[in-house]
Amino acid sequence: MRIGIIGAGHIGGTLAGLLVRIGHDVVVSNTRGPESLRELVSEVGGGLRAVTVQEAVDFGEVVVVAIPYGRYRELPTGGMEGKIVVDTCNYYPERDGIDPELDSGVVTSSERIRDHLGGADVVKAFNAIHWQTLRDRGLPKGDPGRLGIPVSGADEEAKAVVAGLIRDMGFDPVDAGFLRQGGRKHQPGTTVYGAELSADEIAALLRVADRSRPETAAGDGQTPAAPSRVPAP
Ligand SMILES: NC(=O)c1ccc[n+]([C@@H]2O[C@H](COP(=O)([O-])OP(=O)(O)OC[C@H]3O[C@@H](n4cnc5c(N)ncnc54)[C@H](OP(=O)(O)O)[C@@H]3O)[C@@H](O)[C@H]2O)c1
Repeated sequence: MRIGIIGAGHIGGTLAGLLVRIGHDVVVSNTRGPESLRELVSEVGGGLRAVTVQEAVDFGEVVVVAIPYGRYRELPTGGMEGKIVVDTCNYYPERDGIDPELDSGVVTSSERIRDHLGGADVVKAFNAIHWQTLRDRGLPKGDPGRLGIPVSGADEEAKAVVAGLIRDMGFDPVDAGFLRQGGRKHQPGTTVYGAELSADEIAALLRVADRSRPETAAGDGQTPAAPSRVPAP
């Protein structure tokens, strides 16, 4: 699969290495330009290429956004139509600036990104796992030590594609629901955020979060499913 990554720091760089290792055709980008990514490209090898941000968008069937959340308005919107966009970003007010609506929970950071990008199918994933855990803790399917990764989004097909990538990297995806109700269950400050847990343990914590914050009709306008492992294709 062709994957374009925007942001080449801890998470973007780690995902570049993992995605190349599992056999994808990957390009990576940042604001400083391809020349600044020479070291990452030679470290990862395996055909990784550095490109401009717009080229990463145009290239990717899947586009990964791994930049400080507060800079999402800089993301190009052209060419995003119909793409699967993986949002790895987290809102940290001290870094990103205060957004009262995010603080009160009426909207989530992933919805802000989705709205900015227009027609892309946004899937929130990899936001709740530390980059070193992602880099080092992947394990073969069925290994009892395998960790879970929560995923949310409205488009089931897009979510299944991202779930497949997660599995191939050595983790188990856990479906948290849609971007608003689900996404807010794996953002900073939640019980699953940064926790190194199995898929079953994450699913159990997401169910507790459901009970402690019942959904309202003002959510995504869609009924969230109970947290579950994403079925293997
Ligand atoms: N660190 C973690 O363990 C971790 C885990 C899960 C999720 N996250 C989240 O993932 C996101 C990235 O975190 P990180 O730790 O990888 O950050 P980081 O190490 O600071 O890297 C950020 C990258 O984004 C690039 N960038 C910034 N603005 C950009 C823009 N407008 N367009 C294109 N590239 C841009 C930066 O390169 P230039 O400066 O050259 O543009 C840099 O390569 C954050 O939202 C963070 O909260 C982090």
